Amino acid sequence: EARERPTGPKVSAAGKVILLGEHAAVYGEPAIAIPLEGALRAHAEHADHGRLTVPAWQIDQPLDGDGSPVLTALHGILQRFELTADVHIQVDADLPIGMGLGGSAALAVAMLRAVDQLLTVRWTDEQINELALELEKAAHGNPSGVDNTVATYERAVCFTREQSEGQRFSDLSVHTPLPLVIGLTTRPGSTAAMVGRVHRLHGAHSAPVQQEITSIGRLVRFAIDAIATGDLVELGMLMNLCHGHLNALQVSTPELETLVHLAREAGALGAKLTGGGGGGSIVALAESSQAQQQVLDAIRAAGFEAFQATAT
Ligand code: MEV
Repeated sequence: EARERPTGPKVSAAGKVILLGEHAAVYGEPAIAIPLEGALRAHAEHADHGRLTVPAWQIDQPLDGDGSPVLTALHGILQRFELTADVHIQVDADLPIGMGLGGSAALAVAMLRAVDQLLTVRWTDEQINELALELEKAAHGNPSGVDNTVATYERAVCFTREQSEGQRFSDLSVHTPLPLVIGLTTRPGSTAAMVGRVHRLHGAHSAPVQQEITSIGRLVRFAIDAIATGDLVELGMLMNLCHGHLNALQVSTPELETLVHLAREAGALGAKLTGGGGGGSIVALAESSQAQQQVLDAIRAAGFEAFQATAT
């Protein structure tokens, strides 16, 4: 028997590209991130049993299903707010998952917004962001909060995790639009595993590893100025230096190194891994839209997927 089920309009959530500051962000250093807007769109409808479907990521799971810590956490949130879990959340994703581009945070925000829309909960953006952080904790342990913040607010931010578990962010002041290229390796990376690796290194060799983290934070502060004044050459250099530190923290891979070098050889002002690493993606900065196209072509000619984004 076919029943009419009301569906809400689609809601969206952004992916993200971290320009500088990943990993150090977990330790309270600032990070600069830009949104990949509208990367996910979702809607929810009433159903006999709760379900999440994300065809692009081959996800089709019961909401209370064991095995998925994120869905278990979502279920817990619904219970806490005394909301029905008998909803079918359907998500269209234009973003790959596990590629360092904020897919898991975007999914968290998209699911929450879809539920909010259907059940007229009226969570504020601030609440959505906090709840998405809870889901991110279930997804990868010790998130700084940068990904869910960009996913929620869909704007370029400078983000800092505060010691008291809080977070602070401000709009990034962009003088000149930044022509970026995102290059994808052929392997997903596990942010949880990479954050865990840095944590272990930090535990075992705290002084020198802390020095790397502090150095990344310093580069981020220089980058904020370079972005505010439109000094793309300086920003590119800072990205290159940042990649060196991330490599030193052992979150790079041979494929990431290949992509970074391809981008630089094709004329990028700077290139580095972006997000958690261990696979995933790189971000390259070009000096013009023409140069951006050259970097894109070079990465594709080498057999990798790539796309453009512009930070404004
Ligand atoms: C992941 O996009 C960024 C990391 O710094 C982890 C985090 O900040 O939660 C690697």
